[in-house]
Amino acid sequence: MTVDRGRQYIYLHFRHTDTVPQKSIIRVDTRSVSSQLDRRVFGQFIEHLGRCIYGGIWVGENSSIPNLRGFRTDVLEAVKRIHPPIARWPGGNFSSAYHWMDGIGPRKSRPRKFELAWEWVEPNEFGTIEYIEWCRLVGAEPFIVVNAGSGTPEEAAAWVEYCNSTRDTYYASLRRRDGYSEPFNVRLWGIGNELYGRWQVGFCVDGAECARRTIEFANLMKRVDKRIELVGVGCDNDPEWNIDIIKGAGNYLDYLSVHTYIFAPKKYEDLVAAPSLIERNLLSIYESIHRTCRKYGISTKIRLAFDEWNVWYREAVPPMHVQFTSLKDAVFTGLVLIALERISWAVPIAGFAQTVNVLPLISTSDDGRMVLSPQYHVFEMFSANAGDKVAWTSVLCPSIYSEEAETNIPAVDAVASFNQDKMFLHIVCRNADEPVECSIQVAGFDLRDVRHRYLAGDSPDDKNTFEQPNNVMPRDGKDISVSNGEVKLTLQPCSVHLLTFSR
Ligand code: AHR
Repeated sequence: MTVDRGRQYIYLHFRHTDTVPQKSIIRVDTRSVSSQLDRRVFGQFIEHLGRCIYGGIWVGENSSIPNLRGFRTDVLEAVKRIHPPIARWPGGNFSSAYHWMDGIGPRKSRPRKFELAWEWVEPNEFGTIEYIEWCRLVGAEPFIVVNAGSGTPEEAAAWVEYCNSTRDTYYASLRRRDGYSEPFNVRLWGIGNELYGRWQVGFCVDGAECARRTIEFANLMKRVDKRIELVGVGCDNDPEWNIDIIKGAGNYLDYLSVHTYIFAPKKYEDLVAAPSLIERNLLSIYESIHRTCRKYGISTKIRLAFDEWNVWYREAVPPMHVQFTSLKDAVFTGLVLIALERISWAVPIAGFAQTVNVLPLISTSDDGRMVLSPQYHVFEMFSANAGDKVAWTSVLCPSIYSEEAETNIPAVDAVASFNQDKMFLHIVCRNADEPVECSIQVAGFDLRDVRHRYLAGDSPDDKNTFEQPNNVMPRDGKDISVSNGEVKLTLQPCSVHLLTFSR
């Protein structure tokens, strides 16, 4: 047995044998709030890449595919159902060569350009106006990443003016010309994307160079609108880079961006262990930011924006990045979301990479079909059903061993959040083959009405395809029992669960 004392959780891991039944206990206490939940952890990321924008989000008004003013209707409705709190755009790598002025004004006169980041063609039919309109339709807060690769600080500041200014000045007047007298008030702005990488247009040789560039951009952007919040480029595996950025540009930043892709295929145990390593890494980056701030007298409160994350299969190659993920990836997704809910005090923003057609939650075909991945269904279950406070949650359960993590990982993970009338419990069962009996003990919340919805299948490899789009679907649980303040249910192997308790 190992005892691992985390910030809010105590896991007791029992190595199970054939004679020990697979049992777990989840304890929730709403009287003890561990933190506020920032719903932006359920955020999305869309990029001009493959068929994410063109063919996914945007088909144009003249398309034979049903659309609302050019936005593909089936995708629009599917995205609305996952209640995205925030949507990052236009990239990704794309942002490092994107000139926003190409994407405004009458659509017919926008330039069709060779695009340098992905070496592809950008028709510029979808630009700032279309993005803002789409965000409004799906209910997401905009989050724009400016071109800090081949672009200039002036160009970025002009974009802030176009979006946010009420002054009678040139760029604000272009927004009015485009039909929007009121400002968009875009609050969140990223300064560059993955500038530490040689694959990035305009990459920086080290963190110190990136910090200098970040300051130049931040300085001009903030002159236009002091209320904006800025996200600098951080790195998930280069602590020195992060220290240099914070040391040099920390006073200008509100968030540091971190991206993590889990490259697959990999062993099942390692895939489902990865979210624990991600959680640990994010907390360690957060701690190092704060150590650096203390050391250099930086008083801004900098938190993390985990604004690109996903599993990335070998077949998802440029430029299309197509993959069809399976139930085990839904388990991975559920575990990452549970971790993010737990640590949203340190990582309040995230961006699933990506929403449509590229490493996607949602896949579309050019003949009008759409398929929702098992990962999509996790967002559908969790994102729309979360409270605003995280309740103290502990899990007592068996464990599974991951070679890559070199440790045992709890077979069950869970987090509860609640608001005035409802409590939501998100649970994931990592076991590949064996079910786990689960007893849920709740303090501080009346267990009058409990609803159970879950995602499971016959095998961790079950997936949805255009031919079989409904193979992995959430279902209502029927065999949940409630007595004396205790809820009992069986967690099927490789499954994701939502329990909704109403007062
Ligand atoms: O999401 C695909 C790409 O992965 C993004 O453009 C880039 O930021 C990352 O490397």
